[in-house]
Amino acid sequence: MDDKPIDEIWILGATGKVGRALAGRLTAARIPGVVLVGRSAERLASIAETLDGPIRTRRLAGFAEMLAAVQRERPLVVVNLLGSYAGTAVPLAKACMPNGNYVDLSIDNDTLSGLIGLHDEARAANSSVIGGAGFGVLATEALVVRLCAGMPYPSRVQIDALSSSASEDGVMGEALAVTAVDVMALGGRAYREGRLTPVPLGSNLRNHALPDGTTVKSAAVPSGELFAARQASNAPTIDFTSALAPTSPLIRPALPLLSRLLQIPSMRRMMITSMAASKTRRAPRPRPHSWGHAVIDWADGTRRESWLRADDAMDYTADVLTAVVRALYAGTAPRGACTPAAALGPGLATDAGATFLDG
Ligand SMILES: NC(=O)c1ccc[n+]([C@@H]2O[C@H](COP(=O)([O-])OP(=O)(O)OC[C@H]3O[C@@H](n4cnc5c(N)ncnc54)[C@H](OP(=O)(O)O)[C@@H]3O)[C@@H](O)[C@H]2O)c1
Repeated sequence: MDDKPIDEIWILGATGKVGRALAGRLTAARIPGVVLVGRSAERLASIAETLDGPIRTRRLAGFAEMLAAVQRERPLVVVNLLGSYAGTAVPLAKACMPNGNYVDLSIDNDTLSGLIGLHDEARAANSSVIGGAGFGVLATEALVVRLCAGMPYPSRVQIDALSSSASEDGVMGEALAVTAVDVMALGGRAYREGRLTPVPLGSNLRNHALPDGTTVKSAAVPSGELFAARQASNAPTIDFTSALAPTSPLIRPALPLLSRLLQIPSMRRMMITSMAASKTRRAPRPRPHSWGHAVIDWADGTRRESWLRADDAMDYTADVLTAVVRALYAGTAPRGACTPAAALGPGLATDAGATFLDG
């Protein structure tokens, strides 16, 4: 096997929502070497037709074939948009080594911690691995990195991800359904005394008065923002809430039972199948902006608060991913395995179009 990667950017899952958006941005920016990888030649061709300039497509039957092709053909950058990150992220990141680079949108603590566990291996292999390169993780991680710069370890971090996205006519799709079901099955999480600890899913209900005058509720979910905030702050106590968590007073009491039911493999599979096929309707985003929010406390009584304002969270995710892919392609990302702001600094968030507002 030749260890030198070819200068190609493979988008695995290019027929999905984020894949299409990323391909459009990379081709509009005249980044060469983009290859759309997916399971259907027809769907790939119809996406390629909408893009500016000739673009390569590659049909591969499924994950195993994609993994084997990455190992064999050695693209310079692999973008994993397949979802099911618990099973796909670490094998694909390892397949990029040596000399190749990997990025994904993973959002669960275990996957992110598995990817960061590859740090020494990736550095030795001259590879960059970046997990969670979307609104999810970066919108709060960038705030924590920025607020903690030059400060001692804080005693407590509260972070909130308050996304707002338009929806399209279609179906939810399996990748998103797996993420949603696994979040519900796991139950809530928070850091207590430096350890990831179970808390009830949907607890820590928060009502936010947003800087643009709108309001939104959020509650605890077990998301990778927690892991990234712990890496960035080393705080012993960290809480995370998301506006995507169920906050209705009718649903919240049923969540512990739902969590237990979804831990049964047949129930999990049934729920994923049904959610994946559930129809989505075209609708504008519910609020004008998406927000990341952080409040950080230090033992001496110092408190810092900041907001990150972006527009549509899905568009912002594609913009963040584009910026990360460009850095990986140009070789400017550090070697090793990192979350996005740890790799490229909080300026990545503003490069991708967000604004910081200090409270
Ligand atoms: N961190 C964040 O902020 C953030 C934001 C948005 C999305 N996400 C995550 O990013 C992932 C992609 O999102 P999306 O909205 O683009 O999802 P999507 O529209 O459902 O697209 C998923 C893509 O993966 C492909 N795929 C799924 N399972 C596969 C398998 N077993 N083998 C081969 N290909 C497979 C699909 O191919 P087919 O067309 O052949 O089905 C499709 O191209 C999801 O996991 C989502 O949860 C994260």
